[in-house]
Amino acid sequence: MNSEDWNQRYDGDELIWTATPNQFLVSEVEGLQRGSVLDVACGEGRNAVWLALQGWEATGVDFSSVALEKAAKLAAHNNVTASWIEADITTWAPVTSSFDLIVLAYVHLPSEARGKLHRTFADGLAPGGTLLIIAHSLENLTNGFGGPPSADVLFSPDDVISDLSGLGLTVEKAELVTRTVQSDDGEKHALDTLVRARRPLSL
Ligand SMILES: C[S@@+](CC[C@H](N)C(=O)[O-])C[C@H]1O[C@@H](n2cnc3c(N)ncnc32)[C@H](O)[C@@H]1O
Repeated sequence: MNSEDWNQRYDGDELIWTATPNQFLVSEVEGLQRGSVLDVACGEGRNAVWLALQGWEATGVDFSSVALEKAAKLAAHNNVTASWIEADITTWAPVTSSFDLIVLAYVHLPSEARGKLHRTFADGLAPGGTLLIIAHSLENLTNGFGGPPSADVLFSPDDVISDLSGLGLTVEKAELVTRTVQSDDGEKHALDTLVRARRPLSL
């Protein structure tokens, strides 16, 4: 899907996702020292806004202008400020070593683009910074609920470890995790890939 497809998907006043932050983001950032955070492909801003509410200096990037307008409204509604950047994350990159936390939540590009994407954003981590990747897992296709129905855009914790290898990051967590989802047909279970990696204070 290109930015116009996403703009159409986001069209309208209703949030297509939710205003609630992702549960794994909430648990994984607990205990981290507040600083600057980049939310990559931030969509309607639920995670960036929640992080701003926790005292992080938040920036969200997404190529959908419609999503970013909704994100700015969500921030205003919550009385927090955040910066919003309209850019294509396959070509845009953060300044090297600039963010204390970088979050990629449910960013599903074709597999040939995934490794470069993960390495580009790992490069944006300040010394001591944390990279958090949360995504629908490949296993979700057969054993879980929701998410994109294409194996090519799904990935496992091991895929992310492989993407990040050789960068000198410490992988602190790489797990398949279960998320409970309320659907029209009752409670379902989604399988997510969760990876948390930290850049050492000195490389
Ligand atoms: C499934 S949504 C996830 C939104 C948000 N991270 C969340 O968890 O609520 C995926 C987002 O990726 C964005 N996206 C997809 N490809 C992109 C690209 N090449 N550059 C920038 N954003 C992109 C879409 O606009 C969409 O907002």
